[in-house]
Amino acid sequence: MCGIVGYIGLKKAYPILIKGLTRLEYRGYDSTGIALQNGSLRVYKKKGKVAELEAFVKDKDTSGNIGMGHTRWATHGKPDDINAHPHESSSGRLVLIHNGIIENYSVLKSALIRLGYDFNSETDTEVLVNLIEEVQKQENLPIEEAVRQALTQVHGAYAIVVMDRDDPNKIVAARRSSPLVIGIGKGEFLIGSDATPIVEHTKNVVYLEDEQVATCALGQELSIKTLRNEVATHTVHKIELEIEQLEKGGYDHFMLKEIFEQPTTIAECMRGRMNAEEGWVRLGGMDEYMKRLVNAERMIILGCGTSWHAAMIAEYLIEDLARLPVEVEYASEFRYRNPVVRENDIVLAISQSGETADTFAALEMAKQRGALTYGIVNVVGSSIARLTHSGSYIHVGPEIGVASTKAFTGQVTMLSMMALILGYERGFLPKSQYQKLVQELSLIPKKAEELLQKCQKQVEYIAGEFKDASNALYLGRGYNFPVALEGALKLKEISYIHAEGYPAAEMKHGPIALIDENMPVFVIATNKSAYEKVVSNIQEVKARKGVVVAVVTEGDEIIKKLADHTIEIPETEEPFTPLLSVIPLQLLAYHIAFLRGCHVDQPRNLAKSVTVE
Ligand code: G6P
Repeated sequence: MCGIVGYIGLKKAYPILIKGLTRLEYRGYDSTGIALQNGSLRVYKKKGKVAELEAFVKDKDTSGNIGMGHTRWATHGKPDDINAHPHESSSGRLVLIHNGIIENYSVLKSALIRLGYDFNSETDTEVLVNLIEEVQKQENLPIEEAVRQALTQVHGAYAIVVMDRDDPNKIVAARRSSPLVIGIGKGEFLIGSDATPIVEHTKNVVYLEDEQVATCALGQELSIKTLRNEVATHTVHKIELEIEQLEKGGYDHFMLKEIFEQPTTIAECMRGRMNAEEGWVRLGGMDEYMKRLVNAERMIILGCGTSWHAAMIAEYLIEDLARLPVEVEYASEFRYRNPVVRENDIVLAISQSGETADTFAALEMAKQRGALTYGIVNVVGSSIARLTHSGSYIHVGPEIGVASTKAFTGQVTMLSMMALILGYERGFLPKSQYQKLVQELSLIPKKAEELLQKCQKQVEYIAGEFKDASNALYLGRGYNFPVALEGALKLKEISYIHAEGYPAAEMKHGPIALIDENMPVFVIATNKSAYEKVVSNIQEVKARKGVVVAVVTEGDEIIKKLADHTIEIPETEEPFTPLLSVIPLQLLAYHIAFLRGCHVDQPRNLAKSVTVE
């Protein structure tokens, strides 16, 4: 949440900052602001998106080769011009941008008010910038030292960038629990919440660690200290991100592009890890810990949002194929429940961003309690990836649309591979069955491609039929129950239609009361097991004048006669159906949201990377 960008070098900072902010807009879009250093400090900020800031700044002085920018997802204080970042200290000497929450801001603010400080905004960030100014003033400290000392008084999460009017050739950055990446270019440094604003300028990056303060000064090497005042060494990593991955590539929205990328991204996720002809699947991250993984008594899977839905599918996969007991937990509930975690448990964390605060904290707790921790993450070098003992990247490339699509199918692909490995290694999957499933999984990219081509127009048509609905119900059984949850989440996230996902049989215990001719019921009915039961559920809906849209297996003539619309998906083995059945539901949510005039890539109130609890 909140995107941070900084630049110090020989080029003009403004265009670099604006471009960087556009790349980071997925992290929040309540307000935007920049600060530029050019002998004096200039701050421009505005409620709304980057485009509104650009219009506001059009006739203003944007000179300067040092600066910072911020795009906000509001926590403390409503989204308006005053609460927008950057925030200035009372004297105007310092400016600061912040991602995170300062938990003891109230105590600090009272102390600062007693010392004579005035506050304009409702934010915790303004408290922080004034605290740094106060510390700096007392002993006339250089800015990096003032930042370090001030942060020792702060509780909570932060990624900050600070500039000092009186020390104009320097930018200071620090973090705790919120991500920060520093790009090292030729005679320049770039700072970002992630690598997306940096990649155009350099591929060499340093991931700042928790409780580190970095000083980026013109003509000098990067210098990093810990909050305890120790000099920290750093490793320069090469990022593999390409600029084209950050563009829409001819699509109207990132979400649509990402839906259509799935045949490729699922294949990318499998690349080098599976061989259909030879019939094997291998994950480097599992190899080192295979003994512990195979002998574990239980697996606990943590996630939030769409990643939690992927975790639910993993429960079906791993219990079914590997006979290992699995518990799926909302990371936010797990961490505050004092859960039982044993040393022979495996705790798996699923996260696209690798930065979700609740998932990170829950994982940290599980690690402290002795479990083996394993990450399934998309963003390379992210905090969760670095915290876990081991893990596997899903390699689906940057996901920019706030509603997750290709990351979900990447996660489910990865979890399918894990389930196959565990099933085989634990002796529950005979070799012939294992090889058959490996072969079937390898066909999913091709089937996803066929499906997308085939269902595109039909889904667009169905979207037109239901775009004015106020409520929608999604039903599924077994492997397709989590798909029902995910379908409902996609619709509500981006179209603002109230939607619920339910296990099909549970419909009779409540949602059936809602069914009438106005509420579409989307049934994922591709299961081979329990097929008759799903058919009965469809009958029950139809008997109450409900409108049914069914996702079925190619050639299904029975449901075709019952449902108002059917969308066919290619046949596959039941454990892998979610990888296909979710695709028309993603597309449907997209088209409905588009027809309703909603901002598909940046839905209201949401953010992609939830770095606050
Ligand atoms: C937010 C995003 C969702 C995502 C969830 C978990 O709510 O909007 O798309 O599923 O966070 O994020 P993670 O990065 O941990 O997968």
